[in-house]
Amino acid sequence: MSISKSVNNIEEIIDKAETGNELNRHEIVLLLAASDEETRLLYAAANSVRKQNTGDEIFLRGIIEFSNYCERNCLYCGLRRSNKKLSRYRMPEDEIIATARLIKETSIPTVVLQSGEDSFYTSEVICRVIERIKTETGLIITLSIGEKSDADYRDFRQAGASRYLLKHETSSKEIYNYLRPGCLLEQRLRCLQALKKLGFETGTGNMVGLPGQTPEILADDLLLMKKLDADMLGIGPFIAHPDTPLNGLTNYGLETTLRVLAIARLLTRNTNIPATTALGSLHPRGRIQALQAGANVVMPDFTPEIYKSRYDIYPGRTDVGSATEIMENLQKDFASIGRPLNFSAGYRQHKLAS
Ligand code: 5AD
Ligand code: SF4
Repeated sequence: MSISKSVNNIEEIIDKAETGNELNRHEIVLLLAASDEETRLLYAAANSVRKQNTGDEIFLRGIIEFSNYCERNCLYCGLRRSNKKLSRYRMPEDEIIATARLIKETSIPTVVLQSGEDSFYTSEVICRVIERIKTETGLIITLSIGEKSDADYRDFRQAGASRYLLKHETSSKEIYNYLRPGCLLEQRLRCLQALKKLGFETGTGNMVGLPGQTPEILADDLLLMKKLDADMLGIGPFIAHPDTPLNGLTNYGLETTLRVLAIARLLTRNTNIPATTALGSLHPRGRIQALQAGANVVMPDFTPEIYKSRYDIYPGRTDVGSATEIMENLQKDFASIGRPLNFSAGYRQHKLAS
């Protein structure tokens, strides 16, 4: 990417980004405030950069939410430890493996093992699960289980995990400290660096519409995603959960999240960007719109039905039904926008077009 001079006209900023130039904070802030017409241009540019870099096909990752216990107390999240209304579950090892087999049967090549921060599953248990999934299914394994020690991350990597998702959530230290009591943004960023160093394909990302979040903070989120050179970017709207201290807050709606996602595509070119479940929860066509504004990945939820509704991070989560039903619905939805499903690993393509 070359550095060119700062511009103020939104159409020029979109052109500049589409052709692979960096954007500064001011330019990103202007894009976030684009008019409806300009926003359409922004989505079209992101869609075109997505097409050039990752193609038209939609990459799939099957999620298993294996525990909804969490030792943290994030103000926004329904899994927070102070939420006594939530009925908690932990999937036994054998059930996690059996669910991974179901994912394998759909031909999806990768599984995401996700949970709250739950030390019941020791590093030893997680490594055993990784090893068993690898030997018994050959699936590529992504972990999304929060902040752990460098030694744990190294053990997970050695056991056979190859990807790790750890969203930075917000680039504002103040908002981070307020929303994630007892946690530090610097520590989150240290974990991300450690994961990268160990050779994990690493995912980060943020929530859009958090209390106190300004366009400048969103611009910093985007610049941070770029700086971290993350391979995957999870960008989703904040949706207030009734059993959390943020109950009743409204979010910015779909548009702002889609704009952040589109700008992320323009800035990072070949990353894997999911059309998040949270976007689908906010609006029935949220995921489809995201796929037309820069996203190229979908992560269907294969958590067994008896647990699924209890992974209650935010209200209105979708993807109900059996594995076959989920796959049939996805295929139908995406065929309607001319986007076939891709069943390959979907590693970030480092050598494709800029
Ligand atoms: N709205 C949207 N996303 C949320 N997450 C947690 N709580 C919410 C919420 N209320 C997301 C965070 C976190 C993941 C577990 O879910 O980004 O990384
Ligand atoms: Fe736990 Fe993650 Fe929810 Fe925070 S966001 S309470 S760490 S599951």
